[in-house]
Amino acid sequence: MGDVYKESPQAPSHFEHQITIDKREFPSWVKQNAFYMMNQLEGWCSYEKAAVLIDIILKLKPEIVVEIGVYGGKSLVPMAFALEVNNKGHIYGVDPWETSESLKGVNNASSEYFWGVYVNHMAVFQGLRTKIQQFNLDHRISLIKSSSERASPIANIDILHIDGNHSAEASYLDVTKWAPLVKTGGLIILDDLTWFEGNAYTQAKSIEWLNTHCAKIAEFQGSNVWGMWRKL
Ligand SMILES: C[S@@+](CC[C@H](N)C(=O)[O-])C[C@H]1O[C@@H](n2cnc3c(N)ncnc32)[C@H](O)[C@@H]1O
Repeated sequence: MGDVYKESPQAPSHFEHQITIDKREFPSWVKQNAFYMMNQLEGWCSYEKAAVLIDIILKLKPEIVVEIGVYGGKSLVPMAFALEVNNKGHIYGVDPWETSESLKGVNNASSEYFWGVYVNHMAVFQGLRTKIQQFNLDHRISLIKSSSERASPIANIDILHIDGNHSAEASYLDVTKWAPLVKTGGLIILDDLTWFEGNAYTQAKSIEWLNTHCAKIAEFQGSNVWGMWRKL
């Protein structure tokens, strides 16, 4: 099995490699363009994580990608751009962009301030819509303005990226509702594996569910810890 392409010296570590990606296959202009777009978007996705997401999409050429938790599109847009380079596939971004949803299960004062006072969810949503139009990516992206719980299920998912509300309840709902909709052999990516709030690792039950029902193929340590599973 080959090595996952590491774009920068701070690239995430991989403990197991089951996806062969040869860096010569993908010209750097793809990432340069994606990073240029990311610089204009709000959110948390690092260049290192975006590079891995892009490589996977260029390699696997998925038809259906779903992201739970979009915010300003910093992880959604680079994935959509990779689909555009493939000239194939669609990404669905599920996010309510609603203060009340972001505050559910929040257990510390700084998160409460950030999601409850600082963030203007509608402005973030509208800003993303404008950027998607500017980048000519409308035909690759459907924004579903809904909580993960309320959203209609999407069948036959090839790649699922879960980065929504990190409370224990919301995270478990995201994983147990959406991971079963991923095709056998498809990929599930869960962000912030070590999220700690209210004296607990809030994603512990979600990780346990994924470890039981899927095969863990990689863990990445960059600006946060995130993992990848293959649907069995
Ligand atoms: C950490 S941010 C997503 C960051 C983004 N993926 C990135 O890389 O920049 C979490 C997002 O989850 C959204 N969210 C909150 N509750 C949600 C729910 N019940 N279902 C889906 N998304 C939710 C928030 O509105 C917020 O935009």
